[in-house]
Amino acid sequence: MDGLKQRLAKAMKQEAGVKLSPAEARVVARMLGMCQQSPVQQKVAEPKREKPQGGDLIVGHIRWMIRSDMPTVLEIEKCCYESPWSEEDFIRCLRQRNCIGMVIEHKDQVVGYMIYELHKSHIELLNIAVVKSLQCRGLGAAMVGKLRGKLSDERRCRILVDVWEHNLAAQLFFKSLGFVAHGFVRDRFDGGQDAIQFIYGKPMPKAKAGDDGKPFSDWKPDADDDGDMFA
Ligand SMILES: CC(C)(COP(=O)(O)OP(=O)(O)OC[C@H]1O[C@@H](n2cnc3c(N)ncnc32)[C@H](O)[C@@H]1OP(=O)(O)O)[C@@H](O)C(=O)NCCC(=O)NCCS
Repeated sequence: MDGLKQRLAKAMKQEAGVKLSPAEARVVARMLGMCQQSPVQQKVAEPKREKPQGGDLIVGHIRWMIRSDMPTVLEIEKCCYESPWSEEDFIRCLRQRNCIGMVIEHKDQVVGYMIYELHKSHIELLNIAVVKSLQCRGLGAAMVGKLRGKLSDERRCRILVDVWEHNLAAQLFFKSLGFVAHGFVRDRFDGGQDAIQFIYGKPMPKAKAGDDGKPFSDWKPDADDDGDMFA
């Protein structure tokens, strides 16, 4: 048996005088209990990597977005999206009283941002991006964490975000942070692109008469949300 094992071992290495193909030799070797799995099976059994490798987590500092951040924000936006927002899009949005922009800094550089709207009972995340070179290192999660900190049971109790249906990476990102897919939104983006709506926090109540989900008319900013940077 030992001799056969040695010959099989040689066959697997394709040494001189071998009659078996490596695949045949591996089958025989498995039958003889010399190894549990073929290298091919072992490879298939390896865990599948679902996201690009990031690196060590990094800590970012989150602060209000100000006008002088705009060139960097636009640069990141262009690199992150196929149909990026223009400067006018950002400014139009940020001029709304209930719309807030925040950036995240690392080593004194703006490396990401988020834009969100405060509504009576929810926060809507409109845009979030992290510079490509620092993605998958916890900066996006830190920004969403900041938003989660603004929720309360009594008042704003959920975060909504519409994710382009083909943006699987973003869907996995939100899912990993506890968001759940809530519905499908047709024609959500320019060019008639559909979106999946993700929700974090209290599930949506059934629609009530008179509640059209629009921003509360007498909305007042939170103590820490008082900054009309773009007005
Ligand atoms: C989506 C985005 C903001 C995420 O920010 P990020 O800093 O890269 O994400 P984080 O490192 O905080 O990731 C947190 C978790 O999300 C998941 N995740 C993030 N990116 C992922 C990817 N590409 N694939 C799978 N899962 C991913 C992981 O579970 C990760 O946790 P882990 O690293 O411990 O496994 C960023 O990738 C980005 O700017 N993308 C381009 C713009 C975009 O699509 N924005 C969303 C529009 S709705």
